[in-house]
Amino acid sequence: MVEVLNRQINAEIYSAYLYLSMAAYFEFIGLKGFANWMRVQWQEELKHAMRIYDYVVERGGRVKLYAVNEPPSNWKSPLEAFEAAHNHEVKVTALINELVELALKERDFATYNMLQWFINEQIEEEASTLEVVDKLKLVGDDGKGIFMLDRELAQRQFADEGDKERK
Ligand code: FEO
Repeated sequence: MVEVLNRQINAEIYSAYLYLSMAAYFEFIGLKGFANWMRVQWQEELKHAMRIYDYVVERGGRVKLYAVNEPPSNWKSPLEAFEAAHNHEVKVTALINELVELALKERDFATYNMLQWFINEQIEEEASTLEVVDKLKLVGDDGKGIFMLDRELAQRQFADEGDKERK
């Protein structure tokens, strides 16, 4: 179980890296609000990684850090980037589900319990990325709509304490 938890730490750090890459993309095309949203997401993912890291340490396991893959660095449009973000979250949900299955199979109820937080979190992660995908589809190529959405996404803040970021 520790081995797969270490793999999940890596997956969460990759997620952070992916979102930081998306932040850099949005920064480059002048959408600071979108970049802000991605920066908050980057911090969220590091928090996810550390949640598992701390759990492994707490249980007396050995944390092992693996190489982090290079994320993509370019997307054709804000919509394509957010669709990629949403697809990524769907994949992460599948990884979490596999961990839950394994924890049950090994009768590792402590890990099973720890993973419940991630199950809830993934519902939110999928929903929040999909929400932006839907809004981007709605505004299409309308510059004013993108501008308004950029202002909205600029409001997102990272909450260091507690489980939810303020939107
Ligand atoms: Fe750590 Fe976005 O799931």
